[in-house]
Amino acid sequence: MTIEIKLVTKKPARSQLHVLIVPSDQIDELPESIDRDFLKSRDFKGESGQILFTHSAERPVALLGVGSLENLAHANYRQAGAKLLREVKNFHSMSVDFCGYFNENVDQPNATQAFLEGAFLGAYEFTQLKSKTKKPPLKTIAIIGSGQKIKQAINRAESIAFGVNLARDMVNLPGGDLTPVAFARKASSIAKEKKLTIKILDGAAIKKAKMGGILGVNRGSTQQPRFVQLTYKPAKPSGKHIVLVGKGVTFDAGGLSIKTAQGMSTMKCDMGGAAAVLGAMSTLNAISPSVKVTGLMPLTDNMLGGDATRPGDVLRIKNGKTVEVLNTDAEGRLILADALSVASSMKADAIIDLATLTGACMVALGSQYAGLMGTDSELIQAIENSSKATGEEVWHLPLPKEYRSQLDSDVADVKNIGSNWGGALTAGLFLKEFVSEEIPWAHIDIAGPAFADSPWGEHPKGGTGFGVRLIVNVIENL
Ligand code: BES
Ligand code: ZN
Ligand code: ZN
Repeated sequence: MTIEIKLVTKKPARSQLHVLIVPSDQIDELPESIDRDFLKSRDFKGESGQILFTHSAERPVALLGVGSLENLAHANYRQAGAKLLREVKNFHSMSVDFCGYFNENVDQPNATQAFLEGAFLGAYEFTQLKSKTKKPPLKTIAIIGSGQKIKQAINRAESIAFGVNLARDMVNLPGGDLTPVAFARKASSIAKEKKLTIKILDGAAIKKAKMGGILGVNRGSTQQPRFVQLTYKPAKPSGKHIVLVGKGVTFDAGGLSIKTAQGMSTMKCDMGGAAAVLGAMSTLNAISPSVKVTGLMPLTDNMLGGDATRPGDVLRIKNGKTVEVLNTDAEGRLILADALSVASSMKADAIIDLATLTGACMVALGSQYAGLMGTDSELIQAIENSSKATGEEVWHLPLPKEYRSQLDSDVADVKNIGSNWGGALTAGLFLKEFVSEEIPWAHIDIAGPAFADSPWGEHPKGGTGFGVRLIVNVIENL
């Protein structure tokens, strides 16, 4: 759906639907022309996420509840925006009035940003592969307000929603369509459009660079691997540099340690980390943070061809460490090992990786929380703070040194699986082996929230784009 945003100083005469945002304790302040008995009969209390269609004297009105004025937060506006765009099917033009209800947590610019992010995310549909394509209706939303700060908020919401919806699209594309080559091509067009520098290594270059993890996982595939490196350079650099790494397994069949039919059915989502990195990078020129940001995306699928990596094979990762592969379905950590080795050789002030890494993380935290692990309490804290702001939930998990010996191998430096228990943590401990000790590092296991089996929050079924807003927020605040 295409949505055009306007900023207007008073409610436009031609607006078909006028949206009033009302805190629950301010219902009495609504214009006289809104029928109080009707609100009562429909039990409209202005609670967060509540919506009611009614009319005032001259036009249709939607009332959007955001909870009590005192507790107003970004999440309430995001939820209201998502709810509105999901419910409103018949109106192509609307005006939105915040009615001046703000508090110390939210002013009009950030309420506008949160509301519009919610609106864009709530309106998302994946229709690329439907044969009957209706031309998506253009919706116009006129925000009532004025000033440079609100204009900026609108631009930020637009570019952040672009990034999230881009990541969703990529996750929703089937593994047979979004191959590593297709992913790299898309990254290349995004780089051009969003003014980022891009470097793409093909199979031969990956071999030359000795990225044995990617090569080992790719061995069972007829699809070529790719290694994509995107760079954002700030106009006014602070001198800081953040490296993002995203797991890009375009389809995870498990390799010879094959998954079950059911386990495999959603595995097009296994490049959700790389998609989140690409989505986040796509926003940076609009957000213009002062840190330099590099995004690394190792890309391959995990198939079962005749020369696929066998359980027991030993791979040599980019940094020289050897890995005994005892389960080919623990492939994400192998390609991340190469990428984290590359990240560690860059002058980085922080490394953050995002990966749909373990089913164990879903067992621990369910489908809406990401697992957060890392070596630096300040970085962990920064990510937790951003998570509170964006509503993308993370939970800090340990990297217990007591468990490290589970990765000891009889024949190589490490093996790629631990015992049956605590799989999210041993995966984290494995990754840690490939990160330079002096660089603060955080690992976000998004196996649960990257893909939704049923809609939740502002997410439709399918790809959620989880991590895009979180990472952008971290970058802005570091
Ligand atoms: N891509 C999967 C993890 C996953 C599972 C993501 C469910 C999203 C939803 C990963 O590559 C994997 O298969 N991990 C194995 C590791 C095990 C073999 C040590 C797992 O979690 O079972
Ligand atoms: Zn796997
Ligand atoms: Zn995987």
